[in-house]
Amino acid sequence: MVLEITNLLELEARAQAKIPEPVFHYIAGGAEDEVSLRRNREAFARWALRPRVLVDVSTRDTSVEVLGEALSMPILVAPTAFHRLVHPEGEVATAQGTAAAGSLLVASTLSTRSLEAIAATGPAPRWFQLYVYKDREVSAALIRRAEAAGYRALVLTVDTPQGGRREQEERDAFTLPPGLGLRNFEGEGMDQLPSAEEGTSGLTAYWAQMLDPSLSWDDLDWVRSVSDLPLVLKGIMTAEDAREAVERGVEGIVVSNHGGRQLDGTLGTLDALPEVVDATDGKAEVYVDGGVRRGTDVLKGLALGARAVLVGRPILYGLALEGASGVQAVLEHLQEELDRAMALSGLASLEDIGPSLLQDLRPSHGPTSSIA
Ligand code: GLV
Repeated sequence: MVLEITNLLELEARAQAKIPEPVFHYIAGGAEDEVSLRRNREAFARWALRPRVLVDVSTRDTSVEVLGEALSMPILVAPTAFHRLVHPEGEVATAQGTAAAGSLLVASTLSTRSLEAIAATGPAPRWFQLYVYKDREVSAALIRRAEAAGYRALVLTVDTPQGGRREQEERDAFTLPPGLGLRNFEGEGMDQLPSAEEGTSGLTAYWAQMLDPSLSWDDLDWVRSVSDLPLVLKGIMTAEDAREAVERGVEGIVVSNHGGRQLDGTLGTLDALPEVVDATDGKAEVYVDGGVRRGTDVLKGLALGARAVLVGRPILYGLALEGASGVQAVLEHLQEELDRAMALSGLASLEDIGPSLLQDLRPSHGPTSSIA
């Protein structure tokens, strides 16, 4: 069945009705007071569009290249964990829906289908999201497998030295149900989350056991020593880190606060984007995720210098509601909204989008260090 979508905001409530409550909390929630989560959405409202008129927009083009991959839209599927929590086919269905829409899936280390099973869905371009484990060989093996399976870039998540505190996840004692494991680690004794005791999150406990909090800039050389795949850092929020990243030669940066699920109280990602774009100075592609729900949000991200945006939660909602075709419908809906927003703004192609499209509604802004 085709998933009818009016807008992606209302999709959340429809998916909620179908998803078990603790799973919905896990997907929709953020860390602590959910300030970062809210700011991601609020940031889009603080920029106003400046439309141009009397421009021939009779043909429009939303296609884009990201790291050399031709895509139908500047909208990628963000890495998110545990897709079988919402649909029996899990990430395989997500990959099918993403490919059908002409977009690109960033497959998570924490997938409930193996990276090979995802790759076996067909030749569409895909990237692999990497968490670095304390046992480096675990991550090295993942990188080699991703490369062998045809993934075209590594997306290293850099904002997770440990889990952010997601209080609702702890109240729910979130963990994976029996029979559902981290398929990239099958048979390696690392494919289950610890069964959470009351007041703890199984995912936070898994990360504390497994992920390497000593990961630092010099370890990028280690990643490079394992693979020549292009390297994208996901979770950069400042000009300082963007500068360091480009000095170390990364090919891409995702401005991200992990969907408001890690450090609470950050800027909304759209508000961090300009300083990162500025510091990157064209030496790496910049993408942004966090709160993208409307075609006009995509337009705003691009106008502030992102090459593409990534969407996370709405993809899981489409997957929950209609499997692969639900994922496809979410992406095509966003593309259609983008296309309409372009027409109404006097833009025929993405190349025409620039900073003059936006006006910042904040009375004053900037890091406090620049305030005398
Ligand atoms: C996984 O990366 C999560 O944020 O839950």
